[in-house]
Amino acid sequence: MCGIVGYIGNQQAAPILLDGLSKLEYRGYDSAGIAVYNGEEIITAKSKGRLKVLSELTHGGDAMPGTLGIGHTRWATHGEPSDVNAHPHMNKNESIVVVHNGIIENYLKLKKKLERKGYEFISETDTEVIAHLLDYYYKGNPLEAVTKIMHRMEGSYALGIIFKEHPDQLYAVRKDSPLIVGHTDGGNILASDVPAVLKYTRDVYFIENEEIVRMTDAKMEFFTVDEEPLEKESVRIEWDVNAAEKGGYDHFMLKEMYEQPKAIIDTFSPRLKNDGIEIEELNMSDEEIKAIRKLVIVACGSAYHTGVTSKYIFEGLARVSVEVDLASEFRYRDPIFEEGTLVVVISQSGETADTLAALRESQKRGARVLGIVNVVGSSIAREADNVMYTWAGPEIAVATTKAYSSQLIALYLLAMKFAHVRGKIDKKELMQMVSDLKKLPDQVELLLNNKNKIQKFANRYLAAKDVFFIGRGIDYAISLEGSLKLKEISYIHSEAYAAGELKHGTISLIEEGTLVAAVLTQEDLYKKMISNMVEVRTRGAFVLAVTNEGNAEVEKAADYTVYIPNTNKYFANTLAIIPLQLFSYYVSIGRGCDVDKPRNLAKSVTVE
Ligand code: G6P
Repeated sequence: MCGIVGYIGNQQAAPILLDGLSKLEYRGYDSAGIAVYNGEEIITAKSKGRLKVLSELTHGGDAMPGTLGIGHTRWATHGEPSDVNAHPHMNKNESIVVVHNGIIENYLKLKKKLERKGYEFISETDTEVIAHLLDYYYKGNPLEAVTKIMHRMEGSYALGIIFKEHPDQLYAVRKDSPLIVGHTDGGNILASDVPAVLKYTRDVYFIENEEIVRMTDAKMEFFTVDEEPLEKESVRIEWDVNAAEKGGYDHFMLKEMYEQPKAIIDTFSPRLKNDGIEIEELNMSDEEIKAIRKLVIVACGSAYHTGVTSKYIFEGLARVSVEVDLASEFRYRDPIFEEGTLVVVISQSGETADTLAALRESQKRGARVLGIVNVVGSSIAREADNVMYTWAGPEIAVATTKAYSSQLIALYLLAMKFAHVRGKIDKKELMQMVSDLKKLPDQVELLLNNKNKIQKFANRYLAAKDVFFIGRGIDYAISLEGSLKLKEISYIHSEAYAAGELKHGTISLIEEGTLVAAVLTQEDLYKKMISNMVEVRTRGAFVLAVTNEGNAEVEKAADYTVYIPNTNKYFANTLAIIPLQLFSYYVSIGRGCDVDKPRNLAKSVTVE
């Protein structure tokens, strides 16, 4: 979490830093700060709260002249959000300044050592240790000081560093936290993520672990931790610059919900070829696909929910056994990888610390890892054995919508491909599914256009204390995501339950008027679900049903019904999630919450 930026060149740095930080705020937004070298000294401005506060404080950066600077937007790990804990951090005589994304795990040990040598600390952060450690090792050669601290620090870091004695240079270094750099017109820029630099360059260098960058306004040099020069190739980013702007929508989340049809098309189109499905990136022969005996799907948050959905699809359609696990759990258990196991990690950012660790752990144990990733060139994309990109474009709102939808599409394609190659569906069945898949974008659009009805319904539940989501099979997976969306952006307590499990405890929480959202898209489970709906309704629940067109039977057990267009039963998630996303969105704005930046959360979770 946290976002860093840096600039050196012939333009004023502060406005560029603030602009870059505004694109990184999704990474953390409890405080922000910038440091600029003004020709004589390094000046910092920091403030608790959103970037807006810092922007006002510095008059949009105009109050901080200078063409070299670094900036930071924070998601607090060590020390509460406050002005003093906000980055940048400096050494005592203010000649070295640093911004940091990550966690220095041995900072207490380093801090004690530095204190014994007379260093005084003013913040509670792990980052301040870096500034003092640099001071300790700096003997006139910045590169040497940077490599020395790298040998001493444990944990993860992406750093931007300025040395006052070298005002024509900007340093950056990375270990296990994302970092990119690029040339701009008349300068060089560094950032945690692509959206921050898109306005200035489309050609970026992805910095690998333990690599160091030295930038001047004209030059960019790369070094290893042993100070050996490195050659690196830049990568062209094809994202649309406007994709990272709100474009007339009130919130990124609403805009991104509306981008779902496009994200779906962009994800399936390149893989629908020659009357079938081709996933070249898989790099697997039909024989290899046939030899797969087990899929182990690992992810976090909403990406995990797409994994849960796909378990039902891979097992039902392709008859491949699937294990799904949360990355934070998976990495600390002792998984058994039999011959023929394929590990699939799913991640929008490609930087989630636990998912990345699960990938590495799997590779260490000899498993092949397929990454389903949205951010091109991210750590997971680079480290996975094969990468299948979801083409959702940049997603800014913390609560994922379009990336989630495109992950589902990637998994559908994979399951269909596996099912066909393994002889579980014939060509005709495959082509019928392809035809249903192609209808999804229009069907999603139709559901989105129904937003006013959902808004009216949502307005009735602004004061809800608890909401329950229930479903069976794929509908349970949809409930998990519906519930997460609601709690993360509206702060209403909500839980998802496998409907059959309700009776084993949760039903005791149902009171008069409690909202229960029941998802019923699987025809073979309608009857069972209706029984569960009746059970909660007789105990006072208000039942919202999300079901397929034509399932009029449901109205006997529901108080309010939202119908979704008919599709292949394995694709139902893509449609049923739309009214649930809209519901969460409207509850959130109705309650006056910050939809795009919910409290305590960050989009990219690069700490454990
Ligand atoms: C955070 C985000 C979620 C996301 C999860 C996994 O918690 O708020 O929306 O699903 O991380 O992120 P990833 O980038 O790995 O998909």
